[in-house]
Amino acid sequence: MSEAPTVDPAIGAEAKLPPRPQLPALALKAAFLVSRRWAGGQLTRRYGRCFTLTVPVFGNAVMISDPALAKQVFTTSPDVLYNIQPNLSRLLGPGSVFALDGTAHRARRKLLTPPFHGKSIKAYEQIVEEETLREVASWPDGVEFPTLEPMMRITLNVILRAIFGADGIELERLRDLIPRWVTLGSRLAVLPSPKGTPARWTPWARLARYRSEYESLVDTLISRATSDPHFEERADVLSLFLRSTYEDGSAMTRGEIGDELLTLLAAGHETTASTLGWAFERISRHPAVLDRLAAEADTDDNTYRQATILEVQRNRTVIDFAGRDVVVPMYELGEWRIPQGFSIMVSLNQLHENSDEFPHPERFDPQRFVDSRPNTFAWVPFGGGTRRCIGAAFANMEMDIVLRTVLRHLTIQPTDAPGEKWHSRGVAFTPKKGGRIVVHRRG
Ligand code: HEM
Repeated sequence: MSEAPTVDPAIGAEAKLPPRPQLPALALKAAFLVSRRWAGGQLTRRYGRCFTLTVPVFGNAVMISDPALAKQVFTTSPDVLYNIQPNLSRLLGPGSVFALDGTAHRARRKLLTPPFHGKSIKAYEQIVEEETLREVASWPDGVEFPTLEPMMRITLNVILRAIFGADGIELERLRDLIPRWVTLGSRLAVLPSPKGTPARWTPWARLARYRSEYESLVDTLISRATSDPHFEERADVLSLFLRSTYEDGSAMTRGEIGDELLTLLAAGHETTASTLGWAFERISRHPAVLDRLAAEADTDDNTYRQATILEVQRNRTVIDFAGRDVVVPMYELGEWRIPQGFSIMVSLNQLHENSDEFPHPERFDPQRFVDSRPNTFAWVPFGGGTRRCIGAAFANMEMDIVLRTVLRHLTIQPTDAPGEKWHSRGVAFTPKKGGRIVVHRRG
């Protein structure tokens, strides 16, 4: 049953919203606060692939997991649907791509795309391999341990080296500073900010101190890069930003560069590590998959590893939704008319649990992607359309090289332990016990 058509007083047009769960508003909000993923799943089972709800933080929203509607949302012009508010730019700053919409967003995406193209990414493979080898050197033999924390360190170090071009003392300082900043920042991101200058002892003041330390490190990295006699050949993303210009010939400002580097770090570090944590959790529970991966790792082929990565991202989707805000007076979505001010939340994990697209969706089965590539608007761990994750190819390369390196040096012991439960870290969902595995050094 749909909501009764309502007349929008501002424009006199009629809104026609999808069904709204007949549940107490407070109970619904509490369920979302406690477990967004679980609540979204329950509501989809009960109300179908498109329903209306009011959620904490985002307010009035329509949640969808119908592939045709998802495709429509993802391909709608960014002048009609803006990025959902609030988003990470509250924390990252106005120079972050998350903060931009319409023309400004298009211009920034043009500038951001080249460093993340397949060819540019190839240059970073060696960094990923080195960081993985450094980490696995200290893994215990025959003793169970969680992979998530090592994966967090690998992905952080890879981004600091490949993207910031950091080395030496700056690399050390950023390695220490960024995890503290991200942990505190994610906690404060969901709280209202204080008005005016925060008192010295408050967490907001601490966050501001981290930020100014970060800015001075970026200044050092910029002067080091620009005074490098090989500046023109440098492949790190910071140098690529410094060398690039918008279509009108202007360069990125210093503020934009600082905010954008932090954005790449915040968006790329935890997401990739969480997916890798799940990859170890999944493959250790599927001995036949593990055997095939181990055999393939000794060759130059990566067909099965790629299929496995696609399936991990489908079966254990770490970002549960991509959101847009309606900024035109009325947005026609399929048979519905959604008024300005509503958010549209595309449920990525529910799209992945659709048995019409993925037979037996609960099964972890990389074979489903061996001979066929997934449908662009059904397999969406990286979101879609004009805001699709800019680091998708980078993340894929990183996961491929990490898995290859681990499998070449270690044997992962299969287990019949039950699958790990989901744990929300705020933005990403990780395996609750950290993706625990047992490994043995290969002789
Ligand atoms: C497995 C790893 C990753 C996952 C699952 C992931 C997922 C996502 C998702 C779901 C979005 C939102 C897309 C949308 O709204 O339609 C996004 C956006 C974004 N991601 Fe990723 N991401 C990953 C890795 C990375 C990496 C490695 C980087 C960069 C180094 C990165 C940079 C970004 C940026 C800059 C955006 C914002 C794009 C925009 O607003 O135009 N991500 N990502």
